[in-house]
Amino acid sequence: MATGKPKAGSAEHRELFCRSFIDSHLRFEPERLAWPELDPDMLQRLREVPFWQEVLYTEMRAIRIIEAFAPTIPDPLVREAMELMAEEERRHERLVRHLIARYGIVIEARDNPPLPSDIERTFIDFGYGECVDSFLGFGFFRLARESGFLPPEMFDVLEILMGEEVRHVLFFVNWMAWHQARRGRGAAAWRGPASAWYYARAVAALVGVALRNARQQGNGREFSATQAAGLMPGFTVGGLLDACLEENRRRLDGYGRDLLRPLFLPALARFALRLTGRRIPEDMREEGSLMRRVWTVLRG
Ligand SMILES: [Fe+2]
Ligand SMILES: [Fe+2]
Repeated sequence: MATGKPKAGSAEHRELFCRSFIDSHLRFEPERLAWPELDPDMLQRLREVPFWQEVLYTEMRAIRIIEAFAPTIPDPLVREAMELMAEEERRHERLVRHLIARYGIVIEARDNPPLPSDIERTFIDFGYGECVDSFLGFGFFRLARESGFLPPEMFDVLEILMGEEVRHVLFFVNWMAWHQARRGRGAAAWRGPASAWYYARAVAALVGVALRNARQQGNGREFSATQAAGLMPGFTVGGLLDACLEENRRRLDGYGRDLLRPLFLPALARFALRLTGRRIPEDMREEGSLMRRVWTVLRG
């Protein structure tokens, strides 16, 4: 780990990740963003995107989880940052609802099942879920923008939402390290396996969503990769992983290097790319291979 970072769990670390989150909060009203007019073809494309309902319900669930968890946090600064994150998720819901209403997208109402009783565990699962969704989402977003699937002005609006998710991921990764350190589980030897376990749960949950969507569509189509192939000509999984790595790096580079960063998924993506014999660009290698990363973690 680079020197100069505050020790995970220290008061300095808490101050850094909370203040950088609070200070980078943007003020805007979703309804007043520069929503573009779409011609009939583009409008039809937008309406055929199959995951607006999932996006909306993901935001709604995020709000419920953070709103339930925030009041249980004893530290006032961490609680303030967490409440701000809930406010941003409420704004995401408004943004998605506005998009659905403005462009006449049809979605089906869906029940939101009650949250599990262990709210801390639920929040942690949610946080790792955001890490997985964002890592993949950043790559999809870039490929979709480059393909001209929708006008650039629409991507400019949605970029605001993506930009806030980067901050949520950074905040979560740092909060998790701080939280574990305060529970006496700050050692890397504990953090690594615990992260791998939670990431596995998050990926399993994502697969569950994909299967549910495929079932609901009733036509055997699978969510994400294969749907993306239909939406974006020339789509390949290798190309997606490249885009995920680059976009993850580019977005995180906008924030201080003294914050902890999510490293597991980039390492996994590089590992997967190597398995396929793909060359990893020089500047994408610096955080090490998956095996080296696992070894570093186990060594402490
Ligand atoms: Fe969100
Ligand atoms: Fe979020």
